[in-house]
Amino acid sequence: MSEPIIGGKSFTAVAINCAAKAGEWIKTKLGNHTSLSLKYSAQDLVTEVDKGAETMIRNLVGTHFPDHSFLGEEGVQPGPEASTKALQSVQDAEYLWIVDPIDGTTNFVHGFPFFSVSIALAYRGEVIVGVVYDPMRDELFVAEKGKGAYVRGRRMAVSGETTLGESLLATGFPADPNYAQPLNMKQLQALAPQVRNIRSAGSAALHMAYVASGRLTGFWEIGLNSWDLAAGALLVKESGGTVTDMQGNDYHLGVRHVAASNGRVHGEFVNALQQAEAGG
Ligand code: IPD
Ligand code: CA
Ligand code: CA
Repeated sequence: MSEPIIGGKSFTAVAINCAAKAGEWIKTKLGNHTSLSLKYSAQDLVTEVDKGAETMIRNLVGTHFPDHSFLGEEGVQPGPEASTKALQSVQDAEYLWIVDPIDGTTNFVHGFPFFSVSIALAYRGEVIVGVVYDPMRDELFVAEKGKGAYVRGRRMAVSGETTLGESLLATGFPADPNYAQPLNMKQLQALAPQVRNIRSAGSAALHMAYVASGRLTGFWEIGLNSWDLAAGALLVKESGGTVTDMQGNDYHLGVRHVAASNGRVHGEFVNALQQAEAGG
């Protein structure tokens, strides 16, 4: 699909501009946030910087594309039910911007320099532009549907490992103590002896960008939201990788339990996750 240019600005240019502006501002606020509140649980944090960055992005998008729909994390009530409902209410929109203003707020709050701005644009439910920006490294990951994915202006490609045994994986440790946490522990225990190693750096969007750029072989996490994954999923796909749910079904905006990889290990990866779930 060729990308429309409206008012002289392409969708991708606006997405990049928003991510860069928000990211630069977020970086100036590192160690300086003034308000910290809990959302859904003691592990679910939000600061005035998350909210300010989302407002900045929403305003910029609205200036260029006033008719487009917008789904941002800070505009949605906390918790999985509210997230699912919010997505359902907008997912059929012609153009939908899906934004996580800071992915990795816990890291941001602690000064651990691994967080990102994640911005995706979906056309009738399918992601056509994905941008993930890491302000600490000034790394901008950009993908356009059908046109590849780039970091620092260079085309990205997923890594070449062909077995789990050679793979460097990442996961996210979920907060939900009833379902997601115990399952993630089972998965970790099952996968750790089968792979080269496992990381958990605390930004799902950046983990996805690292799969796209070949720095990680794969990533999985239980209980993510559309704004954590939409941009990263396009980055991985446009870099030649595979993104599915944990059953191996293709990624769509409603996927919450994700497995992303270089594609070459995907079958083995999803199989291992399923066996862990089954207690095997
Ligand atoms: C979180 C980060 C984290 C992941 C959590 C997400 P937030 O997003 O992506 O790595 O483990 O599941 O909720 O709350 O910092 O935007
Ligand atoms: Ca997030
Ligand atoms: Ca966030």
